[in-house]
Amino acid sequence: MLPNQNPTTTAAWQKLEVHFMTLQATHMRELFQEDPDRFSKFSAQFEDILVDYSKNLITSEVMQTLIDLAKEMELEGAIASMFVGEKINQTENRAVLHTALRNRSNTAILADGADVMPEVNRVLAQMKKFSDDLQSGVWKGYTGKAITDIVNIGIGGSDLGPYMVTEALRPYWKNITPHFVSNVDGTHIAETVKKLNPETTLFIIASKTFTTQETMTNAESARNWFLEKTGNKGEVAKHFVAVSTNQKEVTKFGIAPENMFVFWDWVGGRYSLWSSIGLSIAATIGYDNFERLLDGAHAMDNHFRKAPLEKNVPVILALIGIWYNNFFGAASEAILPYDQYLHRFAAYFQQGNMESNGKSTDRNGDPVEYQTGPVIWGEPGTNGQHAFYQLIHQGTKMIPCDFLAPAISQNPLSDHHDKLLSNFFAQTEALMKGKTADEVTAELKAAGFDEESIVFHTPFRVFEGNKPSNTILFKQLTPHTLGSLIAMYEHKIYVQGVIWNIFSFDQWGVELGKVLAKKILPELSSADEITSHDGSTNGLINYFKRLKSK
Ligand code: F6P
Repeated sequence: MLPNQNPTTTAAWQKLEVHFMTLQATHMRELFQEDPDRFSKFSAQFEDILVDYSKNLITSEVMQTLIDLAKEMELEGAIASMFVGEKINQTENRAVLHTALRNRSNTAILADGADVMPEVNRVLAQMKKFSDDLQSGVWKGYTGKAITDIVNIGIGGSDLGPYMVTEALRPYWKNITPHFVSNVDGTHIAETVKKLNPETTLFIIASKTFTTQETMTNAESARNWFLEKTGNKGEVAKHFVAVSTNQKEVTKFGIAPENMFVFWDWVGGRYSLWSSIGLSIAATIGYDNFERLLDGAHAMDNHFRKAPLEKNVPVILALIGIWYNNFFGAASEAILPYDQYLHRFAAYFQQGNMESNGKSTDRNGDPVEYQTGPVIWGEPGTNGQHAFYQLIHQGTKMIPCDFLAPAISQNPLSDHHDKLLSNFFAQTEALMKGKTADEVTAELKAAGFDEESIVFHTPFRVFEGNKPSNTILFKQLTPHTLGSLIAMYEHKIYVQGVIWNIFSFDQWGVELGKVLAKKILPELSSADEITSHDGSTNGLINYFKRLKSK
């Protein structure tokens, strides 16, 4: 079981408060001047992934104290507990075993005393057969034509992972084009099916619970579209499969058991792309490439499990995050991939991180008196540079950033990639160094500005610098590397949850809105004036009803 203690009561936390007093008055420029070895001292390597964390407001003492904090919070034991299938998701009484789904060494892993690997392997084999049959055209639609398009209908963890990964691995697409429908807004499904031919389209209904309102509504609409377009001649069995833990509901929907791909309650929704929720990934990039993705994640799992904390990449990233979140008061973190294929990466970890660590109750059931999960956001570079980087450079908020980039582009067009990477390197340098008033003045002088103009313009052009970033540089965005990168961030989230003394694998915070929406739904079509809510909600619902009936 996970330990249970308030991190702020540890000796390391107290020491970090003292370090903070010194470091908050230090500029990273000085740290680099004082120590030419910062890059080698503060970088870590995992396979070909280099993580340079030297552009942070840290010293060796700070890093050592952060490691001490992890030790005092019994992180090593918590890591072991997760991998061996202890029920660390205590509020749902479940093990957390997404690592078993990619356990390529195939060693036994027990959940409730039973080895999960035979079942994991059985479903993987089922996924392989299905993706091979789709790719080769053996799986045929009701008119005998091969499937060309799949539509994954799911939301949250049953959408974001498969969507992010298929987008990231577009160069590996084979004969199938994937589409994703998540939003209950009818526009999403309507716009998606508009361009599809029902004879060659297959729907994957992906839902752990198979009761999620959005997914079930979209699934019904997809079935209606399919039957309508085929004049009721379409065979649902050839065009609909399900991915779920809930066999009863899948059968009720009309999907045959042989077209159902199961997974288990020890797979959290936002950690499920490695399970049969990844069916749309395997179907799109081929099962061989899906296995490479699992291999990459497994390699990172082994690193996370075995590497000493000082060299452990997810642990280092997590501790640096805690340093800013809890001592510098940084409220958000930006994930900035310099790879267009990773355009959904930040959105994916928005759920991964914020649904996991957006908690304010500790493992005792008491309110926490310190900050927990940060706001996660981001967009690919260089687009972000022309949108929100202004605030990161010159705003009033500290926003620690992760910059990620491959050394080799999947699309080596003229000098695009060198231009992209020159921006990548320039941004972290600019954030760290900034530009002093003296440098600005000299520049303005050289540009011919008069004295008065120099005095006026200088303050606006000064960059304070001292803005922290991690740089994550890897060879190429392959399925293997992507698997490792995703697992790296997953484990970072877990480490932070352990240290914040919260439960990272439940998500009770999404329930209230769902329950209220169910209550409101019938009110929207009733003829009565609504009075059952607070004044604002009553007013809004009644105004909406008047608007739609006019
Ligand atoms: O948003 C809440 C949530 O339960 C997520 O954790 C999950 O990924 C998503 O809804 C979808 O749930 P399901 O796969 O059961 O449809």
